[in-house]
Amino acid sequence: MSGSNTSTKPNSIGSGNTVELQPQGSPLGFSKQEIMREKAETIPAWVNNHVDSGYDSLVAGIQQASSSQGYGFDSDKPKILVVDDGAESRMTAVDLLAMEGYEVIEADCGAAAIALIAQKQPDLILLDVMMPEMDGFEVCQIIKQDEQTRQIPIIFITALNDKRSRVRSIESGAGDFLTKPFDRLELAARVKSLVQQKRLNEDIDHAEQVLFSIARAIESRDPNTGNHCERLVQLGKEFGEYLNLSYNQIRDLMWGGYLHDIGKVGIPDAILLKRGKLTSEEWEVMRQHVLIGEQICQPLRATRGVIPIIRHHHERWDGSGYPDSLKGDKIPYLAQIFQIIDIYDALSSERPYKPAYTPEEAIQIMTEETAKGWRNFQLMQQFTEFISKRDRNS
Ligand SMILES: [Fe+2]
Repeated sequence: MSGSNTSTKPNSIGSGNTVELQPQGSPLGFSKQEIMREKAETIPAWVNNHVDSGYDSLVAGIQQASSSQGYGFDSDKPKILVVDDGAESRMTAVDLLAMEGYEVIEADCGAAAIALIAQKQPDLILLDVMMPEMDGFEVCQIIKQDEQTRQIPIIFITALNDKRSRVRSIESGAGDFLTKPFDRLELAARVKSLVQQKRLNEDIDHAEQVLFSIARAIESRDPNTGNHCERLVQLGKEFGEYLNLSYNQIRDLMWGGYLHDIGKVGIPDAILLKRGKLTSEEWEVMRQHVLIGEQICQPLRATRGVIPIIRHHHERWDGSGYPDSLKGDKIPYLAQIFQIIDIYDALSSERPYKPAYTPEEAIQIMTEETAKGWRNFQLMQQFTEFISKRDRNS
C-alpha cells in the first residue's frame, strides 16, 4: 500500500489522495468512552431530563459525562494515521497496529498526510521525522497551528541513534517518540495511552458543551434577563483586555458570563420567577444558587478558573455579601471584576420591572454603591474610565 505523492507543500489542512487500510480485528476497548462523542444528538434530551430533575442529578450527570469509564460502545475503532516515506517501515507499523485492532490509514509524504488528516480526523498520528519535501517537524507544525487538529497526539518515529531529532520531537509538542525498528509491545502501549488521553479530553470537551447548553437553557427560563449572558461575555472580554488580564483570566471572565448563574437550575420556579418581593426564606433559597453552581462545575477541570466567579459574584467589598461574607481583597479578583460588569449590564438593560438606565446613570448608581463600601473603589474607577472610553469610541 502506498499514499499519494505531491510536490506542493500545503500550509493548511486540506484534502488529498491516499490509500487506507481497514483491518479486521477486535477493538482494544477504547470505545467504551464514546457515549458523549457518539451521542451528541442525544444531548438535548439529557439536558432536559437533568434540568427538570434538579441539580443533584445534574451534578451526577456531568460527573458521569466527564468520566472515561463505564460506557458500552464498541463501534468506533480508534483511527491511526501512519506517515512514513519508507514503504517497509510504514507497512510494519500498519500491520502491527492493524493486528491490535485499530483502523489504520497511511500516507507516504507530509503533503498527503496533511490532506488526509482533514478528511479522516485520525485519533493519533505516527509521524516519520526524516521525509523528503516536508519533514515530520514541518507536518507537526501545521497540525499544531490548526485549531481543528492541534489536539491530535503525534508520535514521532526517529532512528535509534538520532538524539537530536528525539529532543526536537519533544520540543515540538508531539506526545511521544519511538525509535525504529519498532518494538510491538512498546508501540501498542504508547499508542493506547495517547489515544485514551485524547478521547478522555474529548469527553471533557463534550461535557463542557453540555454545561453551556444548560446555562443557556436556564437563561431562557428567566424572562427578565434577555441576552444578559451574551452581553456579559462581550463586556468581560473588553474589560478584561482593558485591564491587561492574561488570556486565561479573560477566558474565565467570558465563561463566567455564561456560567455564573448556572446554579439557578436548582432554584424552584416559584422563587426564581416570582413577581414581587421575595420573603427572607425565599432569599435564603435564592442565595444557594452560587453554591449549587460551584458544585455543578467542580468536576470539570476546564471550569476551575470560573468557580471563584460562580461562588463569589455576590460578595461585597465590606463583607456584607454572600455566601462567605468575604471582605476586600479576600474576594477573588475575577469575581470582583465580574460583579461589576454583571451589575452594570443589569442596570443598563431594560427589564420588565425597570427601564434601561443610560451608561452615565448606571455608573452613577454603582459609584454611590461603591461609596457605601460595596465594591473595590479602584476597580470601579477603572471601570468608569473603561466605559467612558468605550462610549467615546462607539
Ligand atoms: Fe447570581
